[in-house]
Amino acid sequence: MLIKRPDDFVPSEITSRAVYEGRREFLRSAGLGAAAVLASSLLPARLARAATAPRFPGLVSSPYSTRDEKLTPFKNVTGYNNYYEFGYEKEDPPANAHRLKTHPWALTVDGLVAKPRTFSIEDLLRLAPMEERIYRMRCVEGWSMLIPWVGFPISALLKQVEPLGSARYVAFQTRLDKETMTGTRLPYLNWPYSEGLRLDEALHPLAILALGLYGDILPNQNGAPVRLVVPWKYGFKGAKSLVRITLTEKQPATAWNQSQPGEYGFYANVNPTVDHPRWSQAKERRLGEFQRRPTLMFNGYGDQVAQLYAGMDLRKNF
Ligand code: MTE
Repeated sequence: MLIKRPDDFVPSEITSRAVYEGRREFLRSAGLGAAAVLASSLLPARLARAATAPRFPGLVSSPYSTRDEKLTPFKNVTGYNNYYEFGYEKEDPPANAHRLKTHPWALTVDGLVAKPRTFSIEDLLRLAPMEERIYRMRCVEGWSMLIPWVGFPISALLKQVEPLGSARYVAFQTRLDKETMTGTRLPYLNWPYSEGLRLDEALHPLAILALGLYGDILPNQNGAPVRLVVPWKYGFKGAKSLVRITLTEKQPATAWNQSQPGEYGFYANVNPTVDHPRWSQAKERRLGEFQRRPTLMFNGYGDQVAQLYAGMDLRKNF
């Protein structure tokens, strides 16, 4: 994130909402069963993207979605990424992340829980109805997107493992594969990339694990096969390609906080009144648009999440 200021993204051709809604209608009306989803998840991501079968039949539209803003075109969402394991320019992850093998996959949930367990992606698909969640996403670098994720609340996963009373935090660890992730050969971050939430933040209904976007399985550059999405926090909280979720008593270390504690705090709530030490956070530029827009407190989700931080000094706990 310290690499460069994002004034250089490509104003894209627009995928109109009408085109996308037509596609969603198609996904809903095509009556393929769960077997089709599982079969499609066996495909390498590149092949899967080219196929036309719906990935998430029965996708539920979530009341938590932000509906009054224009979706960020698919091309921007999947072509302008931060995934440093696959390179340090925005175009590197789209070019290189296809090397990551995303099936089979194991996500272990352990730590302070009564029933630690390892989940396959098929297990996750069976855990809860897959929901479309259209969320505002704000990167700490100053750009933002409106992304139609496909996922389910993390709370549904945590319920399965029965958190103990002593659990207060949730640590997220991502895949580290030195063979394919050539970016990890540099000691830029403390690999594997890690993140953390307080347990009550993770249990908030807005916090989801995403397995897809735009109705399809997640492209590798966006964190396949499963990633964290926390829409009221800066994008770096959204750890990609998760392999382990551990419930802890103490606040876990996080990759960015370890590398630059003065710039990237544990909480990372979107807050236009707290500047990054090297730039203002007051405004943002939506990918595909030219005008900057004011950044909203908690990225516009304050009504839902502000009570999580009642009594906290958000200048100190940034
Ligand atoms: N997860 C991993 N494993 N590695 C990363 O480098 N980058 C983070 C986050 N998750 C990152 C990661 C940052 S800085 C951002 S802004 C978002 O992913 C970007 O997500 P997107 O590319 O899907 O928009």
